[in-house]
Amino acid sequence: MRPSSRLPRESAPNALTQRLDRLRQSGTPYVDLTESNPTRAGISYPEDLLAPLAGKAALRYEPQPLGLSGAREAVALDYARRGARVDPGQVVLSASTSEMYGWLFKLLCDAGESVLVPRPSYPLFEHLTRLENVRAVPYRLEYHGRWEIDLDSVAAAPGDTRALLLVSPNNPTGSYVSPREVEAITRLCRDRGWALVVDEVFADYALDAASPVTDLAAAAGVLAFSMGGASKSVGLPQVKLGWTIVGGPETDRAAALEGLELIADTFLSVSTPVQVAAPDLLRRGAAVRDAIHARVRGTLAAARRVAAGHPACDLLPVEGGWSGVVRVPATHGEEALILGLLRDERILVHPGYFFDFEHEAFLVFSLLVPEDVFADAFDRTLRYAVAA
Ligand SMILES: Cc1ncc(COP(=O)(O)O)c(C=O)c1O
Repeated sequence: MRPSSRLPRESAPNALTQRLDRLRQSGTPYVDLTESNPTRAGISYPEDLLAPLAGKAALRYEPQPLGLSGAREAVALDYARRGARVDPGQVVLSASTSEMYGWLFKLLCDAGESVLVPRPSYPLFEHLTRLENVRAVPYRLEYHGRWEIDLDSVAAAPGDTRALLLVSPNNPTGSYVSPREVEAITRLCRDRGWALVVDEVFADYALDAASPVTDLAAAAGVLAFSMGGASKSVGLPQVKLGWTIVGGPETDRAAALEGLELIADTFLSVSTPVQVAAPDLLRRGAAVRDAIHARVRGTLAAARRVAAGHPACDLLPVEGGWSGVVRVPATHGEEALILGLLRDERILVHPGYFFDFEHEAFLVFSLLVPEDVFADAFDRTLRYAVAA
C-alpha cells in the first residue's frame, strides 16, 4: 500500500524508544517521571464513579449530532463553577479534544491552509494538523521569568492563516495566556479574520497563577472555540468525552455551529452512555479533580524543595497544569542526558526537544507522579544532570 502524505514518513524508532523497549522486554523496573495518565498515577477514584454509564436511559439510541441536551446542559453548568456564563446551545460534544481539533480544522481550513500553533507545546499538533492536510505554523513562546507569547511571531503569520491555537495553561510550559496577550491576540484575530481556538483542558489546575484567565470563548469578541474534556477535568481519559464552547459574534457562531453539526453528524462518535452519565460524571468527578490538584501541588512543592539543593538547575514556575520543566546544565545535550539517566539511574524524563524548546537543556516531567517516588528520583535526576 502507498500511504497518503498525511501520514509521517516511516522512520526508525528513536534511541529513547529503543532503550525503553529493551528495558520493558527484559522486565527491568524504572521510575517513570513522565507518567501523565491519572488512572495509572495512584489517584483514588470513587469505586462506583462509572456506574451511571450503565443507566437505563443509555439503552436507547437517539443521537443528536452536537450532543444530547442533558449532557450539553451539564457542561454549561460546569462552566458556571469557574464563573463563566455558557448557554447549552453553545456547547458541542466530541469524543476528545484531539478529535475536536480535527473537526475544527475541517470546519475552518481548506487543504494546505495554515493554523498558528504555539512553540514549545504539545507534540500532537504535528499529527493533528497533518492528518487534516493543514499546515502548522509555529509562533514563539519566550521565557523571561514567565513564558510570554512573542506577538511579532504571531503577526508574521502567512496570508493563508485561518486560526490561531492557544493552549492555556500550555503543556508543558504551564503558562496561562495573560489579559494583555488576550487583548493583542483578539485584535489580530479580528483584523486578519482568524478564528481563535483555545485548548483549556488544564484550566482547572492553577498552581502559581493567582487569578488565571480562563473560558476565553465565553466572552470572546471574535469567533472562538474553548475546548475542555473529561480526560483532564475529572481525570477520566478512558470515558472519551470532550466539549467545546463556541463563542463570538452571533452570526459567526451560528455558522460555526451549523458546520460543526454537519461534521459531528457524519461521525456521531460520542457514545450515548457517556452522554447519559455526563451530569453525574462532572458532578462527582469533582472529587477526582481535587485529588489530582492536591497531587500536582504536592509534587510541585517537592520539586521546589529538591531543586533548592541544586543551584545549577533552574526549576521554572508552573502557573498551571500537570507538567514541570527544569533547566539543567547543557554540557552534553539533552539526548545524551536522558539516555544516560535511563541507563545509569533507571529514571525516565522527557527532553525539551520533544516539545520543540528552542535551545537545550530542559527536562520535562509529570507532576502526577506521587510525591515520595518523585522526590527521590528528581533529586537523583538533578544530581546526574549536574555531574554529567
Ligand atoms: C494540551 C492538551 N490538549 C489536549 C490533550 C488531549 O486531550 P483529550 O484526551 O481530550 O484528547 C492533551 C493530552 O495530553 C493535552 O496535553
